[in-house]
Amino acid sequence: MIIESSALESEPTHLVTLKEVRHDIRVRTYITRANEQMKAIGYTEHGHRHAGIVATIARSILTNLGHSGRDGELAAIAGYMHDMGCVINRVGHVEAGALIAYDLLSKMNMPPGEIATIIGAIGNHEEPNGEPISAPSAAVILADKSDVHFTRVQNPDTTKFDIHDRVNYAVQKSFLRVDSTDKTINLELEINTDHASVTEYFEIFVLRMVLCRRAADFLGCKFRLKINGANL
Ligand SMILES: [Fe+2]
Ligand SMILES: [Fe+2]
Repeated sequence: MIIESSALESEPTHLVTLKEVRHDIRVRTYITRANEQMKAIGYTEHGHRHAGIVATIARSILTNLGHSGRDGELAAIAGYMHDMGCVINRVGHVEAGALIAYDLLSKMNMPPGEIATIIGAIGNHEEPNGEPISAPSAAVILADKSDVHFTRVQNPDTTKFDIHDRVNYAVQKSFLRVDSTDKTINLELEINTDHASVTEYFEIFVLRMVLCRRAADFLGCKFRLKINGANL
């Protein structure tokens, strides 16, 4: 059947909200199954907890910096869906997640321009190839990289911890402070150095911190990292 382009252009669009996305049975199922796969291969938590935290922080970054409510909503939706591609495989989850989001959001009749913003944000959330390409994209990068916390460790056997488990397990408190007055985005961590050293933190997170700095720059801010009260 031939569909005229004018028919496609007249498709009704709908301003999709995070609430609708997080209640969608497909989104719920794919994120649940993505985390089951991460747990099976010994990775930290990538489920609804992580998705919800990244969505909330991404929205809050843009709200604090005076961006529009709709940009905040798009950042929240991209944040919620950003690791959904792990339902296929951890390797390639960035591209896979963007394509899954494209399909789901198209079915929800989200306007194409908004879908482009979201799949671009999902497609750019990881180092080394990710780049902040829009305000929602920059917000998702910062929110994702700041979710380092002992509650993310899914490996029940501490004797089999790898460096990712140890570093996450060591982080007792993680807070992303956005200061709109002095234009800084501050990642404040409290690390129990009995479990991992600050050096180990840098060993696995240096590329993430570089990406955070670029994301903060995109938003017109400076990125700062504070560990156990010391500015680094
Ligand atoms: Fe990811
Ligand atoms: Fe993530």
